[in-house]
Amino acid sequence: MNKPNDPVRAIDPDDIDCNDSPNEHFNTVLNARLSRRSLLRGGMASAATAIFGAVGLSACSSDDSPGPVTPTPTPTPVPAEKLLAFTAVPKSLADLVTVPAGYTASVIYALGDPLNGTTPAYKNDGSDDNFDTRAGDHHDGMEFYGLSATGTATTSSSERGLLAMNHEATTDAKLSSFFLHANGGATTLPRPAAEVDKEIAIHGVSVVEVRKTGAAWAYVKESSFNRRLTPLSDIELSGPARGNALLTTKYSPTATKTRGTLNNCGTGKSPWGSFLTGEENWSGYFVRGGADDAARAGDKSIASLKRYGRSQGATSRHGWESAGSDDKYARWDISKKGTSLDGSDDYRNEMNGMGYIVEMDPYDKSKPARKRTALGRYAHESAAFGNPVVGQQLAVYMGDDSRNEYIYKFVSTAVWAAADASASDRMATGDKYLDSGKLYVAKLNADGSGQWIELAMSNTAITGYGAYKFADQADIAINARLAADAVGATKMDRPEWCSVNPANGEIYYALTNNSNRAVDPTSSQLVPDSANPRAYTDMKGSSAQSGNPNGHILRMKEGAGASAATSFTWDVYLFGAEAGASGGFVNLSNLTADQDFSSPDGLAFSPYTGICWIQTDDGAYTDVSNCMMLAAIPGTVGDGAKVTLNHPKANGGTLAVDTYVGKKPSAETLKRFLVGPVGSEITGICETPDGKSMFINIQHPGENTAQANLGDPSKYTSQWPSNAGYGAGKRPRSATIVITKNDGGRIGT
Ligand code: FEO
Ligand code: CA
Ligand code: CA
Ligand code: CA
Repeated sequence: MNKPNDPVRAIDPDDIDCNDSPNEHFNTVLNARLSRRSLLRGGMASAATAIFGAVGLSACSSDDSPGPVTPTPTPTPVPAEKLLAFTAVPKSLADLVTVPAGYTASVIYALGDPLNGTTPAYKNDGSDDNFDTRAGDHHDGMEFYGLSATGTATTSSSERGLLAMNHEATTDAKLSSFFLHANGGATTLPRPAAEVDKEIAIHGVSVVEVRKTGAAWAYVKESSFNRRLTPLSDIELSGPARGNALLTTKYSPTATKTRGTLNNCGTGKSPWGSFLTGEENWSGYFVRGGADDAARAGDKSIASLKRYGRSQGATSRHGWESAGSDDKYARWDISKKGTSLDGSDDYRNEMNGMGYIVEMDPYDKSKPARKRTALGRYAHESAAFGNPVVGQQLAVYMGDDSRNEYIYKFVSTAVWAAADASASDRMATGDKYLDSGKLYVAKLNADGSGQWIELAMSNTAITGYGAYKFADQADIAINARLAADAVGATKMDRPEWCSVNPANGEIYYALTNNSNRAVDPTSSQLVPDSANPRAYTDMKGSSAQSGNPNGHILRMKEGAGASAATSFTWDVYLFGAEAGASGGFVNLSNLTADQDFSSPDGLAFSPYTGICWIQTDDGAYTDVSNCMMLAAIPGTVGDGAKVTLNHPKANGGTLAVDTYVGKKPSAETLKRFLVGPVGSEITGICETPDGKSMFINIQHPGENTAQANLGDPSKYTSQWPSNAGYGAGKRPRSATIVITKNDGGRIGT
């Protein structure tokens, strides 16, 4: 979620800043001055067009539809198709999914849908239970895994497959996930166990079979492949931190396993066909006692806990720890309570078990998931593999989504063997590539170059770091943020998903927004730098949003060494902006009304069409449009120009920041494809291998509904998907949709 101006929300768990390391940029920190006036105001001209969006329609009614697609010849077609030939979808505030003329979007799998034949249909009135055998909430990252007609794994099926998807979180106000409970649930502590059990079970991952019959897709309720991972599932720890003392808990005195996965956000699909899920804002679920620093008596864990967002006295998002003495509740209190030296009698180390890329085999329920600790512990988003090359190491690109956090890369020790693409034991193949390798963090320079800095005990910046004494590589993996601080990594404007362009291997990162940049910074703010060059004020109604409220998309090109390179070049592919905003400081990519967007979050290249899909999770431009998805055909790093932004300072001077703006998009290379229902974030994207069916997740429609309005559906800010004819009740539900083209063509043509 991402609602910086939402008065209903006490916290925005996606927008946390725990990085008070001194890492800076190329500019000296400026003294705080008088607070800065609104120098740069986003234009509102585009607002007028939005209200003429496709209200009441599930597809735009424009008759300016693309021409017929030439029928695909067989058997090895080169389709005579034009990418981005669809008519752009206007910005919209309608409580619907809007797609271009000639396309159809259908809901197939929503919060609470049963995953077996015995769990009752979802009533959607707060009386439902058994969520560990239902679809979870807040559908997020998602991948498609093909199934043959006989139910075996295949990469060629476009009619039958598994969707593996994250269930990140739940719509809540004060403590309670109120849409899950008949009366909205308790907003004070202690929380009733029955409510907490539901809330825990709606988190995690689901694997669900989907099938196409005729032109229609549906999920298969009784499929034996259907599976849930929840925060209570047994998960193995793997890689350098397995067995390390920092992971010792009452649950696992040998530090070899942990319980569950939490706040799963972005995803990845490995070249060997496993599912990777990133644990993002897990820290906020834990409570830490007000005197815990003293209880820990100077232990270095105090610095670690603070860096990961749990200073002593931190309260938890849902109060799950208050539901009873049972271990499944007690574990959420990470205060030191026991007398053991190693933590085997309490949950003081419990939080060290969250924050990883978790791998699972979507085809095989019998195989426990594994947390791949070598990839580091932070607020993970997606995990994007570099294009695999036989005989070369594999690279996995990742980001840490909190304000002013970092970009990471893992490089495997093992080199890629083509036979592993069809390995029968996918988890063993994961052991081979993801448990041993090097973890790097990115430093981006003002001249458009950058370095990958290895996080290892061989680096004296790490062994000599004053703020935290690292013991070994396991400690570096568990405290990757501190290690990245130590080596002077570049603080970014909230790295969300990343993806690799299959055409050329360049790496794209969505940097969603950052309220913490300012030309005249306070002590907690950063000045703009080359890779995060904007700080401006955008108005949302009468409310001023400052920093980089609309976000940007960075891209990187590896230097010598390809996946194992330690240097790269970069530029900014696109700057999010309102079309009417100043071209001098804000709308640097010259976005038009058919292209303008804010807060890029999901980002994925189609391996089939090569289209770069950009999804938003926005709170800045939502006075004009609900969140959206755009289709793009990007160029290459360096195809644009160097630009110097002369930011006006409060004292009358200027702050000059050089940046590198990618070639400005044309109407043929960037176009809005979809707008979602009210309050939703557009996320999760995958396709069938024929490129003709695309699955998308609609997360948290109606998020800004007040809990007090639970009894009056007319006051829900969204009634989707019931208003699209899906399911019982009017409470809004996160859901998976499938998009097809009416003429049977590929998506995005
Ligand atoms: Fe869960 Fe940063 O998006
Ligand atoms: Ca605005
Ligand atoms: Ca997200
Ligand atoms: Ca986000």
